[in-house]
Amino acid sequence: MNKKTEQTIPQPIYRHDYRQPDYWIDKVELAVDLHDDVTIVRSILQIRRNKDTASEGQPLVLNGEKLTLKEIALNGQPLPESAYQVDREALIIFSVPDHFELSTVVAIKPHENTELVGLYQSNGNYCTQCEAESFRRITYFLDRPDVMATYSTTISADKARYPVLLSNGNRVATGELENNRHWVRWEDPFRKPSYLFALVAGQLVCHHGTFKTMSGREIRLEIWVEPQNIDKCEHALLSLQKAMQWDEQTFGLEYDLDVYMIVAVNDFNMGAMENKGLNVFNSKFVLCRPDTATDDDYEDIEAVIAHEYFHNWTGNRVTCRDWFQLTLKEGLTVYRDQRFTADMTDFALKRIRDVKKLRTLQFAEDQGPMAHPIRPESYIEMNNFYTITVYEKGAEVVRLYETLLGKEGFAKGLARYFEKHDGQAVTCDDFRVAMAEANQIDLTPLDRWYSQAGTPVCEVRGRYDAEQMTYTLQVTQSRAPTPAVQPAFMPCLIPIRVSLFDPKGQALPLQLADENVPIGEERLLSLSETQQQFIFVNIPQEPVLSFLRGFSAPVQVKMQRPREHLAFLMAHDNDSFNRWDAGQILAQELLLNLAQDWAAGRELKLDPLFIQSFGKILTDSRLNPSLKAMAMMLPDEKFLGQQIEPIDVDALYEARSFMTRVLARTFRRELLALYQQYHSTSPYSNSRSAIDARRLKNTVLRHFLTALQDEEVIALIGQQFQHADNMTDMQAALSCLMELEIPEREQALQQFYGRWQHDPLVLDKWFALQASSSLPKTLDRVLSLASHPDFNLRNPNRVRSLIWTFCSLNQVRFHSADGRAYKFLAELVLELDRLNPQLASRLVGAFNQWRRFDKLRRNLMESQLNTIIAQPNLSTDVYEIVSRSLNYR
Ligand code: TRP
Ligand code: ZN
Repeated sequence: MNKKTEQTIPQPIYRHDYRQPDYWIDKVELAVDLHDDVTIVRSILQIRRNKDTASEGQPLVLNGEKLTLKEIALNGQPLPESAYQVDREALIIFSVPDHFELSTVVAIKPHENTELVGLYQSNGNYCTQCEAESFRRITYFLDRPDVMATYSTTISADKARYPVLLSNGNRVATGELENNRHWVRWEDPFRKPSYLFALVAGQLVCHHGTFKTMSGREIRLEIWVEPQNIDKCEHALLSLQKAMQWDEQTFGLEYDLDVYMIVAVNDFNMGAMENKGLNVFNSKFVLCRPDTATDDDYEDIEAVIAHEYFHNWTGNRVTCRDWFQLTLKEGLTVYRDQRFTADMTDFALKRIRDVKKLRTLQFAEDQGPMAHPIRPESYIEMNNFYTITVYEKGAEVVRLYETLLGKEGFAKGLARYFEKHDGQAVTCDDFRVAMAEANQIDLTPLDRWYSQAGTPVCEVRGRYDAEQMTYTLQVTQSRAPTPAVQPAFMPCLIPIRVSLFDPKGQALPLQLADENVPIGEERLLSLSETQQQFIFVNIPQEPVLSFLRGFSAPVQVKMQRPREHLAFLMAHDNDSFNRWDAGQILAQELLLNLAQDWAAGRELKLDPLFIQSFGKILTDSRLNPSLKAMAMMLPDEKFLGQQIEPIDVDALYEARSFMTRVLARTFRRELLALYQQYHSTSPYSNSRSAIDARRLKNTVLRHFLTALQDEEVIALIGQQFQHADNMTDMQAALSCLMELEIPEREQALQQFYGRWQHDPLVLDKWFALQASSSLPKTLDRVLSLASHPDFNLRNPNRVRSLIWTFCSLNQVRFHSADGRAYKFLAELVLELDRLNPQLASRLVGAFNQWRRFDKLRRNLMESQLNTIIAQPNLSTDVYEIVSRSLNYR
């Protein structure tokens, strides 16, 4: 992050400008002396000229920010001041030999660091965050991922206050010093880029376990936490063991060092960081106990632990050549963690959740000012490009390989990738080429998925010819409107899974016109042109089409079809994803119509066909309870908002409330019966079936019964809140109370606060629950919570729980027509920008869709954006987001 001043408008960096560095660094020796007032970092670098790019004597330009240079020597000789130059972001040495040793000593001030990058303090302990470009805040370096070196790190600190000193690799030596200080030396034998460096020091305790690898080595696993959290680590440890085993079984990938450490810290900008052998985690993704964390928290922890572990191969052993290639490691690793979670839980459930997230958040990003390809062409601030597009759409693009090559072909391709590139910093093209080579197929058509922004749209028409007994599918592709400037859309390779059903719900054998016999009941079609036709023959009667099964590509689908077909698929599709999706499409169509009716002052009526289909789902006893919960959930307001322009937040809210009420009234008896059936009176269990049961009965209670607001329901909620022996039930009950204007609401909030005020992760829930209430008074509540003594701008989790929950997830209340919430957010962003630009820039993204709203709200948001951009000394992070937002379309 650099400060923008009047004189310097931040300039973008372009992917096409990549060239190798002028110098390589092979070896790094660090000595970090931690002291209260100042930390001293001594570094010795072995440097050599890159003969391919740099001529002899080429100046050496090292990155460095917020460092105070104390000493500098080349091959042991102190450099005179005339031999180098230091500015705000670099150290330039005018002339250097081909091979040399550079020693520097710098001073840094971790205790003043509120940005949470580089070396900083959290709850009195030290930790680091170097990705993407923050190693340069620890020492002068060629801080780019293609410069890979081996590291040894010696840490010294006060023994009583920092008994635990950790860094990457293996602990090789320790010793005592004067003044009650001690030191520990770490060596990491694997070459790595600087963004994977980590250092931790503090009063920590460790929950440990082991893992025996497939080749028989015993790995020590250590989860380091503050002492009061030692009883909240077992799930994280189990998750790590499961991930290690899964990666061996699925891809034959074994862990390489003898120890794997995870440290939980409270103040962290993101989820977690895959530093070699020493992951640093947001405590939210480590700590849990049944009474403090929900089932969803447990699942998130398992997924994030696995994600960071999987990075050891996809990210660390093979890393990125430059930051434009970020999706090479992130898309691939998200794909891997998605598969892992599917194997640990349920395939369909996981797929539905991932697609829901993609459609709600990534499709929106693609249609707003931040639209970019999964491999961006330029950026001002790299931190702004850790996006849902790079991560989740990137994972979908990796999934395309699996869809085209099969699971085995994919595994073969991955093996080839490691065989070719282990120890290297490579590109997305290298990945595609390895996949293609291993399977002897041309995958160049996939390239456009990397180079084009925007969401492809498939328009589908199916035509049945009774005489010919053919069913013709006509599919075209284009791109959903992308306001940000983009070159013309070129067709992509889109794999489309389809089935056809007869009226009884039987999948038909599928034979294409040029085939002699049917080949299966599900086919994978390849759409690569702008327009294509697929003709199925021997189709005895008009079928019902199931298109893009399992969401076989990250595209939007446009298809005119009778509601009866959707209802039919809701009941009969044997692809669980499409069965769920049919219900969502039907509900969406009705909700958007209801919203229009409400806006026009017409009477609201709910289509009996939908009521009937919903009833069937409700009473389908074969449906897994988690899937049933998913199928019952109506599309959320934010997702619905994306389908219309301008976004009418009140109409959407009213339409959805209406539909909920009608369903709850119609099925009151069935819903209560479901609740009773799945509400367990036996003690907490974390078995799959117990989790499924909680999910279903809490969905019933929170999303349907609560809308009835009658005494019986209020009593149920109250009982669940008072008697819950686990956070899943406790939080669900409290979230019901958040929707009700009754005295029990404030009582419960107080009770919850009293019990959990000392547990920051649980207190985050207390803030988030209040911020997510759809009651009209929520805005005022949020304003007052922002001055609550427990609200703290320096803690990202707390900021996200109150501010992000409200501004991004509570559409109807954030967009209140008086504009007060907008002003509140703008002021908060400016205040936060001085402390933590990375977080401020995430929050300001809540304005990204401003142009899609009605004129009144549009003007209100635009004026706040203008206020922000007019600030002197805005960070590049916030500047980039706000300037893109103001300039789009
Ligand atoms: N590489 C991390 C992951 O996806 C992401 C991350 C953690 C990060 N902390 C960060 C990215 C800080 C940018 C800045 O697992
Ligand atoms: Zn990652």
